[in-house]
Amino acid sequence: MQNKKRPDSSEFACLAPNFGGKTESMTVSSPPQGTPLAANASHEPKPARDISPGCRRTVVLTGASGGIGILIARRLLDQNYRVIALCRSKPAIESELLSHIACDLGASGSLAEACSRIHEHHAPVFAVIHCAGTISPSFMATADEKDITTQISLNLSAPILLTRHLLPLMQTIDGRQKSCIVFVNSMAAVMPLAGSAVYAAAKAGLRSFALSLAQEARPRGILVSSVFPGAVQTDMLIREMKEGGSVLNYVSTPLDPDVVAKAVTDQLIRCGSERFLPAIDGVFGRLCMLAPCLLRLSLPLLRFIGKRGYLRTKTRL
Ligand SMILES: NC(=O)c1ccc[n+]([C@@H]2O[C@H](COP(=O)([O-])OP(=O)(O)OC[C@H]3O[C@@H](n4cnc5c(N)ncnc54)[C@H](OP(=O)(O)O)[C@@H]3O)[C@@H](O)[C@H]2O)c1
Repeated sequence: MQNKKRPDSSEFACLAPNFGGKTESMTVSSPPQGTPLAANASHEPKPARDISPGCRRTVVLTGASGGIGILIARRLLDQNYRVIALCRSKPAIESELLSHIACDLGASGSLAEACSRIHEHHAPVFAVIHCAGTISPSFMATADEKDITTQISLNLSAPILLTRHLLPLMQTIDGRQKSCIVFVNSMAAVMPLAGSAVYAAAKAGLRSFALSLAQEARPRGILVSSVFPGAVQTDMLIREMKEGGSVLNYVSTPLDPDVVAKAVTDQLIRCGSERFLPAIDGVFGRLCMLAPCLLRLSLPLLRFIGKRGYLRTKTRL
C-alpha cells in the first residue's frame, strides 16, 4: 500500500485529475540542502514535472463558444488546465485538454445530464467559471415573455443550479492555490439600464448569490469571485445594439474581450471577491446603488456621452 504524505510548505502540490476519473497527486519539491546534484543525476530519469499554474487541473467553463468564453478557454489551455466546455455549440479550439459537453443550460434536464457526465469522467473539479449569458433588450410593456424567462434562466438560474451540482465535486486544497468559482457578471448588476431591466435584475441577483456563496464556501477552501465588465466588443454587444440596446454601453469605449478573459483567469490565481472593468465605472455604479438619485441626475449627461461614443463607433465600422 502506498504511503500518502501531506504536502508541506516547501512543496508545490497539485492534484491532477485524469480522464479516467482517478486523481494523481504530484509534488514538486526542492532537493534537501546539501544533496550533491550528481547524486540526483544518477537516479532513473523522471518524467517531466508539471509546474504550470493549471497543472492539468479541471476547470468547468460555460459560454466557452462565445466571444469572451473562447478567450478564457484559450488562456486556460495555455496555462495547462483541462477545460470542460459546457455550451450548445463546440468551441472552435482543437486541444486534447479541451472536452466539449453539449448542454443547453436553459434546460434543467440537459444541465443535470452534463453534470452527471462531469461526475463520472472529469471529477474532481478545481474551478468553475460561469460565463454563459444572454441579453434581449426591450421595454417591459412590450417585452416577450419567453425572452424574460430565458434571460432569468441563463443569467441567474443556470449558474445557481450548476453551482449546486458541481460544489460536491469540487476539491478543496490546503495549499496556496485554492479552488475557485468565478462568475462573469456585468456592470448592469450595479448600473440599471432602461430597456434591459430583466438582464440587470438577473445580474444583480447573481451578484447577491455570489456574495452569499462566498461566505458558505470559504470555510471549505473554495473562493468565490465575480468580474463585472462594462460593454465588451463581442457578438453579444452587436446583437444587443441591433435590437435597440442602450447607448450607455458607449459611455466608455467597449472593452477588448481578451482584457476581460485575462481578468477572469487571473481570479484562479489571485481570487478577489469582486472586480469591476473599468474600475472607475464600478465605483460610479456602486455609488448609484447607494444613492439612486445620483444616477437619475447624471443620466442626461451619460446619454449624451454614450450617444456620441456610439455614433463614433458606427461611423468607424
Ligand atoms: N458582451 C458584452 O458587452 C458583455 C458585457 C458585460 C457582461 N457580459 C457577460 O459576459 C458573458 C459572455 O458574454 P459574450 O459577450 O461572450 O456573449 P456571446 O458571445 O453571445 O456568448 C454567449 C455564450 O453563452 C452561451 N449560451 C447562450 N445560450 C446558451 C444556452 N441556452 N445553453 C448553453 N450555453 C448558452 C453561448 O454558447 P452556445 O450558443 O454555443 O450555447 C456562448 O458561448 C455573459 O455572461 C454576458 O452577460 C457581456
